[in-house]
Amino acid sequence: SGSTRREADGELSVGGVRVSRIAEEIGTPALVVDEDDFRARARRFRTAFARAFAPHAGASTYYAGKAFLCGAVARWVEEEGLGLDVCTGGELAVALRAGFPPERLALHGNNKSDEELRRALRAGVGRIVADSIEEIDRIASLARETGVRAPVMLRITTGVEAHTHEFIATAHEDQKFGISLTAGDAFTAVARALEHDADLELIGLHSHIGSQIFDTGGFEVAARRVLDLVARVRDELGHTIDHLDLGGGFGVMYNSQHTPSPAEALADGIAGIVEKQCHELDLPVPHVAFEPGRAIAGPSTQTLYTVGTVKDVHLGGPHHRVYVSVDGGMSDNVRTALYDADYSCLLSGRTSDAAPAVVRVVGKHCESGDIVVKDEYLPADVRRGDLVSVPVTGAYCYSLASNYNHVPRPAVVAVKDGTVRTIVRRETEDDLLALDVG
Ligand code: LLP
Repeated sequence: SGSTRREADGELSVGGVRVSRIAEEIGTPALVVDEDDFRARARRFRTAFARAFAPHAGASTYYAGKAFLCGAVARWVEEEGLGLDVCTGGELAVALRAGFPPERLALHGNNKSDEELRRALRAGVGRIVADSIEEIDRIASLARETGVRAPVMLRITTGVEAHTHEFIATAHEDQKFGISLTAGDAFTAVARALEHDADLELIGLHSHIGSQIFDTGGFEVAARRVLDLVARVRDELGHTIDHLDLGGGFGVMYNSQHTPSPAEALADGIAGIVEKQCHELDLPVPHVAFEPGRAIAGPSTQTLYTVGTVKDVHLGGPHHRVYVSVDGGMSDNVRTALYDADYSCLLSGRTSDAAPAVVRVVGKHCESGDIVVKDEYLPADVRRGDLVSVPVTGAYCYSLASNYNHVPRPAVVAVKDGTVRTIVRRETEDDLLALDVG
């Protein structure tokens, strides 16, 4: 993250706080969030999109809370002027308890319960993203029951799924999200939403094409398909849809092959694409919203672990592998096991003159797939008690954390200006035992 430094004696500090101090005060494993870095990324996306679309109807940025959400994060997002995207009743509860302004909340989800929808409607959530035609009808009747007019967007499946450098158009209709363009369902859904006009305000259309994306090609195809629908709705239903949400998905640098574009370049690129397409279709440029999660939360955070067992395993002949075990693992970062994600690891409590050696960083869980970093160079004298850091763990690590093997979830701390503050306390064995009521 932005404020990570090597001190003169070789120890790493973040936000002006040495990692050894965090280990002493908080313990390990701990997720260390650089608050200024998180805020700066949030602010930068918001201003870049707002500027790029300023000549037209403007843009808004929602932080995707699924990447990582707690009360402190909700307040940072609020203070930096972003909206917040939640996708369950639980995420909604965190946001509301943090005092997040409900009108700046968006509720997603492919299987929202009546109860989740009622809570959102009662709280005055700014937009509910409907994911099926059935849900449009259900939202309308719940809105009537609640005595409010529901603000609704429709999630459109554009058939584009983008990952990293590539995107594949047409091949990815076969998934659970959204309302499909291919069989005309999306048009039917718009017509249905407009029929419910008394109970439901159709705000606009939504598209999300994937995650860890590095170019604008997928956005270009998706935006075109959604704008084609906007044009058809104008032509056939005489209704102009003036709000488009293009979702999130902007990539981060987990390794040197990942080359994220600056927020300004992304914003300008997408603005240029949308302008051109609207011009071709003779449509006004809509207000455009975005929902970055990973690109805001990911790089702001590192996970601090303490090294335990170091084992040199002979593999036959000259081959061997050094396993460096840390005091967490797949319970606090399942992404390596689940997605073959490529993290890095560095010795953070000290530096060493020892030659670098390839090691595998593993956790403490009872399975061999419990790998944090598959192959990494660490100084050959890495040993029990060393502090190591795994960077870029701010997105989808804590939010995917589990209690596998009854390992309590780690603490999350915010560092800033030389201070360290717990924002999510470490789970205890008592917390876990309290659930066990049989
Ligand atoms: N908006 C919608 C509707 C989404 O479904 C998502 C992510 C986002 C925004 C935020 O995407 P981001 O900017 O963070 O890429 N667990 C996976 C990622 C799942 C993403 C799900 N949706 C991982 O760890 O890579």
